[in-house]
Amino acid sequence: MSRRSSKRHSSILADLPTASDAPGAAFFKPHEWPDDLAHMPDVKQSGIASLKEGAIAALQAADLDTKIDVTRRTALLWHMGTLGVGGAIGQKPPDRPGRPDKPVLVPPNKLKKRSIRSERGRIALLHAIAHIELNAIDLAWDIVARFADPSSMGGPAMPRSFFDGWTRVALEEAKHFSLLRNRLADLNAHYGMLDAHDGLWEAAQATGHDLTARLAIVPLILEARGLDITPSLLAQIEAVGDQDSAAIFRIIYRDELGHVAVGAKWFRYLCLKQGLEPASTFQHMVRTYFRGPLKPPFNDFARCRAGLTPGFYRALASAGN
Ligand SMILES: [Fe+2]
Ligand SMILES: [Fe+2]
Repeated sequence: MSRRSSKRHSSILADLPTASDAPGAAFFKPHEWPDDLAHMPDVKQSGIASLKEGAIAALQAADLDTKIDVTRRTALLWHMGTLGVGGAIGQKPPDRPGRPDKPVLVPPNKLKKRSIRSERGRIALLHAIAHIELNAIDLAWDIVARFADPSSMGGPAMPRSFFDGWTRVALEEAKHFSLLRNRLADLNAHYGMLDAHDGLWEAAQATGHDLTARLAIVPLILEARGLDITPSLLAQIEAVGDQDSAAIFRIIYRDELGHVAVGAKWFRYLCLKQGLEPASTFQHMVRTYFRGPLKPPFNDFARCRAGLTPGFYRALASAGN
């Protein structure tokens, strides 16, 4: 952001109501955030000039408190109706998001698997999911920033409600990460203490030029996978009596259903606009851009509720994609 635009927007923002008075406050759900983040940010002095600018600032932030803070401020300002998309801003999102030095990123097969019956095992699970949620913050903002400018993406311009959806996703991913990071602290652990892998970010990068492909891979493959595995993880965590972690997994599961729904809605919208048949287009995108396996069992009920019906993914799994 230029200093001049920052100054101009700071003075505009000084006249705004506080975040808690704002129409966007209802979606923020302060009671679901950890205690130390439950307050509404005071967004008057944020200096964020557009949604794209806020998305890029969040992506660039290597400090995780800053990434969360910028995410909360940008999402609140957007849902208060005070930001434009900023698609004409020439700044490009970074190729890689800002991240702290730790965790060390290693190939997925180098990560140790541990039973969640032990506290060490539960810490490893919470750490792995926290890493996924951190990636998810950046992936949501990358969709906003990369596809904010209709002239750069070759497809149709997206309506404001498209950005409503992805801004909400980014905010909820920041909430998930914050809840897990605090839960790790309860267990005398911290995010960064264990290794992690870079698979999610890598899986998304081949689709930076094509929003239809990006939506096929990020929400409809990667996030839909979360719907498949979370119920059994939740049952295992409840079975060992870790109710605090279970409460977090319940919030994540409910919110992720909404994230897949946002993906399915806009994937279908783009297909309609381009005269494409959604299920076969999805299969083509997955075969072109996704290298991993599509493993059953699928949570068909949750996937259907989100608008991702079996006609999309069954053929890919049975073909051993
Ligand atoms: Fe999440
Ligand atoms: Fe998500």
